[in-house]
Amino acid sequence: MTHRIGIIGGDGIGPEVIAEGLKVIGAAGVSLETVDYDLGGARYGRDQTVLPNEIIDEWRDLDALYLGAVGTPEVPPGLIERGLLLKMRFALDLYVNLRPFTYAENNIDFCVVRENTEGSYAGEGGVLRQGTKNEIATQGSVNTRMGVERCIRFAFDLAASRRGHLTLVHKTNVLTFAGDLWERTFNEVAEEYPQVETAYNHVDAACIYFVQTPNQYDVIVTDNLFGDILTDLGGAISGGIGMAASANLNPSRTGPSMFEPVHGSAPDIAGQGIANPTAAILSGAMMLDFLGENDAANRIKEVCADPKVQVQGTEAIGDAIAERVS
Ligand code: NAD
Ligand code: IPM
Ligand code: MN
Repeated sequence: MTHRIGIIGGDGIGPEVIAEGLKVIGAAGVSLETVDYDLGGARYGRDQTVLPNEIIDEWRDLDALYLGAVGTPEVPPGLIERGLLLKMRFALDLYVNLRPFTYAENNIDFCVVRENTEGSYAGEGGVLRQGTKNEIATQGSVNTRMGVERCIRFAFDLAASRRGHLTLVHKTNVLTFAGDLWERTFNEVAEEYPQVETAYNHVDAACIYFVQTPNQYDVIVTDNLFGDILTDLGGAISGGIGMAASANLNPSRTGPSMFEPVHGSAPDIAGQGIANPTAAILSGAMMLDFLGENDAANRIKEVCADPKVQVQGTEAIGDAIAERVS
């Protein structure tokens, strides 16, 4: 069976790492029909295109989207990130951002379930009197019972299928309105999952435990911004950000889900052939899992965990992994 996949290489190291991901998927014997989309900061620089609605409509018929990274220093911050990446996540209702971390050396095997459509990412806020000495900027956080609950339910289901432990991470001691909604929803849903043991960490303390005792975690559920920050830290403690994969899921499968590494376009190392493509390759494996290609996905994950494939260079790592999965 051939899967139809939209490819957005994007900017910086994005196209470099996606090329290796596609190489490995091919070597694992999965056949993809790919449709390329030239989008990101570079495309914006040429003709001011960010993400037209017609493209989103085209994507609705695809099986999945596979994205490298977007954003360049030449384009004002947020323009591409909000206009392309967040627009994708919101328009396709990719409400779970699943970010797994495994690293035998540090006894790490946990998943972060990050709420992906609300919180401070929702875009609530604005400016008044911009550029004057009386200017005001507000940037609120949107938390709906529906949005929080569907994400928490996904996390409980995931925990029930793993080691049966789920930690809510928030900042209920300061963010009392949003924190209360998250905590009450979490505790109510927990009643339906007696087999899942629960815990709560304030996000600042979670940063300590990530570094010092990461083996206390099985599944973590958290809001959009905390999840963003914690998952870069998750990468750093699990072999580096170049190893951290992620899936932006529409669990109800009413449209395509999107798969991308946790990292960005890394302009500091772009074009040098030194980016680690493992995060993109593992994101490709998450895509294959979601498409039902579980054998190929498992083989790729197994090979990526072998320290022997961590050689020098983007292409060399891709080749080493491709050789072992075929
Ligand atoms: P970044 O993740 O691009 O880079 C942070 C650091 O990690 C850099 O030192 C970089 O060299 C290193 N790094 C990242 N990926 C690596 C890899 N595969 N191998 C080796 N080293 C790697 O974050 P940033 O510098 O804050 O952001 C750069 C741009 O990317 C910004 O425009 C940002 O908005 C964007 N961004 C996009 C995405 C995305 O498209 N999903 C994610 C994060 C950041
Ligand atoms: C990520 C990125 C994005 C986010 C940015 C680029 C919008 O940092 O995928 O982690 O904050 O979600
Ligand atoms: Mn991030």
